[in-house]
Amino acid sequence: DWLATASFIPPVLHVFDTASRIAIIGAGSVGSTIAYTLLTNPVASEILLVDPQEQFRDAQVQDLSDATYHGNTSTLVRAGTHKEAGQCDIVVITAGAKQKQGESRTDLIGRNQSILRSVVDDMKPFNETTVLLLIANPVDILTHFAFKYSGLPKEQVIGSGTFLDSARLRGALAAKVGVSASSIDAYVLGEHGNSQVAAWSCVAIAGVPLDQFPGAEQIDRDAVSEDTKQKASTIIDSKGATVFGIGSVTASICKSILFDQRNIRPVSHYQEDMQVCLSKPAVLGRKGVASTVQLPISSSENEALLQSASEMRKIVGESER
Ligand code: LAC
Repeated sequence: DWLATASFIPPVLHVFDTASRIAIIGAGSVGSTIAYTLLTNPVASEILLVDPQEQFRDAQVQDLSDATYHGNTSTLVRAGTHKEAGQCDIVVITAGAKQKQGESRTDLIGRNQSILRSVVDDMKPFNETTVLLLIANPVDILTHFAFKYSGLPKEQVIGSGTFLDSARLRGALAAKVGVSASSIDAYVLGEHGNSQVAAWSCVAIAGVPLDQFPGAEQIDRDAVSEDTKQKASTIIDSKGATVFGIGSVTASICKSILFDQRNIRPVSHYQEDMQVCLSKPAVLGRKGVASTVQLPISSSENEALLQSASEMRKIVGESER
């Protein structure tokens, strides 16, 4: 009979233990690239796209859905509301203006802070375990205000921060010393912007400090730091935006959180001692930032980091409302 036959059918494999949902606020080029990256490296059962331009949002949902029908993803993409987003496991916030040619990230604060305020208000009340992941710029300032506006615990409000700058630094060093970027331990700290600090004193390859690694002595550290800092502008000058790098690091952060992976990533989060959000390496797990790693940086790097914090504090002070 059919029941006997049915017992030979293997159980359906569920990729995800529980239904996990990621909301993406802002369906523009960055938001949709993040959605696409999350579809091709599936981590959630559902992705909600939220954007006030409904026709545009729905077209993005349709286009993204077309990438899911040929079988290697079980993630569903659909349009969502701010209220639904506030109940998701992770809310990725990309909504806002992006840098035009020649603009710095901090030039965007006025426009993007108002957008953030209304988005956060519309999402309330939050599920108490929701993690907010800020992508829009200036990311450190917006992470600070998202923490203030949302009322969520500080561990649950994260900005992509210098994860991307650190990846760029690793990439540059990889090309110079001839080992893969993922085998290099290198962090950019502080602001995702002009006051960022490359922690050269802590760069290591297979546990070997950079200054002892063969071939690394000819590296012009100042030039590499400067190229890393300017990389987004260099790309924006020619193609108007950066999307793939940020898409990739965002998907990686989402995976660390949803799978409680405890990866250590330089992300922006609230620093109690500095009273601002900036990037330091953080252990990422299901509740967001599980702990912060204090790198044993040199005293001049520490000076530069404190300077970065004080610049962030100044902008926050001027923008408080
Ligand atoms: C960049 C943008 C995300 O650095 O700020 O590419």
